[in-house]
Amino acid sequence: MSRETVTITDNRTGKSMECPIIKGTHGPPVINCQSLYKEMGMFTFDPAYVTTASCESRITFIDGEKGILLYRGYPIEQLAENSSYLEVCYLLLNGELPTEEQMKSFQASICQHTMLHEGLLSFYKGFRHDAHPMAMLVGVVGALSGYYSDLKTDIKSHEYRMGSAIRLIAKMPTIAANSYKYLIGQPYVYPQTNLSYVANFMNMMFSVPREPYKFNETAIKALEIMLILHADHEQNASTSTVRLAGSSQAHPYSCIAGGIATLWGPAHGGANEAVIRMLQEIGNVKNIPKYLKKFKDKSDPTRLMGFGHRVYKNYDPRAKIIRKSCHNLLHELDATKEPLFEIALELERIALSDDYFIKRKLYPNVDFYSGMILSALGIPLNMFTVMFAVARSVGWISQWMEMMEEEDLRIGRPRQLYLGAAQRDYVPMDQRT
Ligand code: CMC
Repeated sequence: MSRETVTITDNRTGKSMECPIIKGTHGPPVINCQSLYKEMGMFTFDPAYVTTASCESRITFIDGEKGILLYRGYPIEQLAENSSYLEVCYLLLNGELPTEEQMKSFQASICQHTMLHEGLLSFYKGFRHDAHPMAMLVGVVGALSGYYSDLKTDIKSHEYRMGSAIRLIAKMPTIAANSYKYLIGQPYVYPQTNLSYVANFMNMMFSVPREPYKFNETAIKALEIMLILHADHEQNASTSTVRLAGSSQAHPYSCIAGGIATLWGPAHGGANEAVIRMLQEIGNVKNIPKYLKKFKDKSDPTRLMGFGHRVYKNYDPRAKIIRKSCHNLLHELDATKEPLFEIALELERIALSDDYFIKRKLYPNVDFYSGMILSALGIPLNMFTVMFAVARSVGWISQWMEMMEEEDLRIGRPRQLYLGAAQRDYVPMDQRT
């Protein structure tokens, strides 16, 4: 801990206080202002948490200016190049890369827990035939908490917390694939323990009785990379939701359901779906300039989906990796001339050389390309954010575990700037005008 401080002085009264400055391994130092209210009688105001570090964490680090993303200290580029998604899961959960033996045992535990309790299958039937699969994911993952109620009471044991993490990572692809099968009216496909994590997911999504799924290695590799890139992203909206819910010591799966709900919005994980809808709306390469104009003159309050990021202001390192993977896949599938992809590639080219986007540091983010990859893999549009949720479940549960292991865990409780009515007297209904 550093002993440097900053002095905060209230210019109205001259009263001062010293706030300790804490330096992390990387990133800007933080000002510990926890005693501000006690000493000065004031709160800080930081809507949307633009400048507030909400917790200590040792899992993921992002440098938005330099375009750096580290999982447990390892650069995302090295992990995407060399790791499998499950190896990254092990790393995020345990803090270290696994030995061969540890990896085998981790893989075996994941395989062992891929099946769902049969009772859980009846939850799908409660949804309308056209329900969004993200709605199903929120519901079914929340319902998992009813099947593992021991986790609520044993939440303080590391073993139980790790058990809950393994079950979640194992079951997410099954829950996701089942929601798709339910929507298209096909029978659920049970998980297969002889397949890799990604191959098993593709099989559960696309095989039908007597018609096995034809595996394509480039497709499996592209999906594996996409999962690695989305595995964690420090204190984003959905992860912060999981942490806030978890701080009340709620059941881990209900906290994860909260994270999934937060991910759904188009400003977060819903962007990958929104990108494709936008490309469909553009419809033709020649419409791009007209389409871009409305963002620039702000005549349309919507945004160019898949562009911009709260943290990355130079480039999104995930986008750089997935862009390559996306181009490889499109070439391999001979899909570069597909109208949608043509529009996407041209939009990328024009926006990257346009002053409006350059000045505001708006670059394609990971979801610009992940939408295209998923589309090329034949994953239906309304399943895109579900894929993001499958990938991110390890990040959510790792962050939840880290928080639960804190010695002085306190319930999260933000303050507010109240601008409502001052106190007034109740008026009976018959006297109101
Ligand atoms: N298209 C057009 N203009 C934009 C965009 C965009 N996608 N993003 C930001 N701007 C403009 C914005 O209008 C503002 O302009 P001005 O200074 O003239 O008012 C300026 O850029 C700064 O915007 P901001 O609202 O301060 O940026 P933010 O950091 O609050 O927003 C964001 C970040 C990701 C929500 C936003 O860029 C956005 O809505 N992007 C599109 C949605 C998207 O792709 N989301 C996925 C993010 S990556 C996946 C994830 O990590 O969840």
